[in-house]
Amino acid sequence: MDHINWYPGHMKKTKDLLRDSLKLIDIVVELLDSRIPRSSKNPDIDTIINNKPKLVLMNKSDLGSEEGNRIWKKHLENENTKVMFVNAHSPKDGARITKEIQSILKDKIEERKAKGIKNVTVRAMIVGIPNVGKSTLINSLSGRKGAKTGDRPGVTKGKQWIKLKGNIELLDTPGILWPKFEDQEVAMNLGFTGAIKDEVLDIETLALRLIERLISIDSAVLEDRYGIEISEGQSPLGVMDAIALARGAVARNKEIDYTRVANMVLDEFRKGVLGRITLELPERE
Ligand code: G4P
Repeated sequence: MDHINWYPGHMKKTKDLLRDSLKLIDIVVELLDSRIPRSSKNPDIDTIINNKPKLVLMNKSDLGSEEGNRIWKKHLENENTKVMFVNAHSPKDGARITKEIQSILKDKIEERKAKGIKNVTVRAMIVGIPNVGKSTLINSLSGRKGAKTGDRPGVTKGKQWIKLKGNIELLDTPGILWPKFEDQEVAMNLGFTGAIKDEVLDIETLALRLIERLISIDSAVLEDRYGIEISEGQSPLGVMDAIALARGAVARNKEIDYTRVANMVLDEFRKGVLGRITLELPERE
């Protein structure tokens, strides 16, 4: 993962570059993480893109719970915003995405055709915070493998377009956006999913907070995976100890190896080994 240190000047530069790219495109494809749809959203994106058509892709939908995905879709979708749950690795979802882009831009395409333009192409760009799956999606849509695209914030100058099916051209460099990391809750969620690397908190505290969250969502997730029993009111640290003992994460002096157990729990959560878990739901209105 490319860790980016965002500072005000950096954000301004990214915004300016994005605004430049917006002039060239017909639609913005905004990627969010299905496990943390609110925390993975850039706070300024809607202001930056203004009235430009937008398709919201809830990526990593294979890692969000089915119920969570359903609730978020209902919450976010409206007349002006189409929301799709996808897996950036899936070619089938790639086909759904190109179809949806065409459908959103239908009127524009018709207008251009009516003006006598042959082979009307529409142009799109992908935006999202680091690690949300932008490169994976670009590679999957374009059918190419390998190199990670655009490891720098903003968009580089020499613009390259990738031809997709359905007369769509995709900017080959995604817009890398910053999350709302000054919000503690958001920073924590980004830490849990690995979107911002483990500098947010030390790894042990981060794992402890994740355990606390998982207990509040559904303690059976941890009980089933680690073969432990969690009693009413048991502290997250107590649960961490139980996991460590169940997994033999104990040093030679019989002390618990907290770094090992913390890394294991975080890693298993991030890979979906603990199951499909949505970490945040819409606030009640
Ligand atoms: P970015 O360009 O937005 O920074 O993200 P990138 O595509 O590099 O994806 C970050 C990680 O998320 C990658 O895993 C990628 O495979 C994974 N990913 C992307 N989309 C999905 C999805 O829909 N579902 C799941 N489960 N994972 C997804 P990685 O471990 O960093 O790399 P690798 O294992 O792919 O090599």
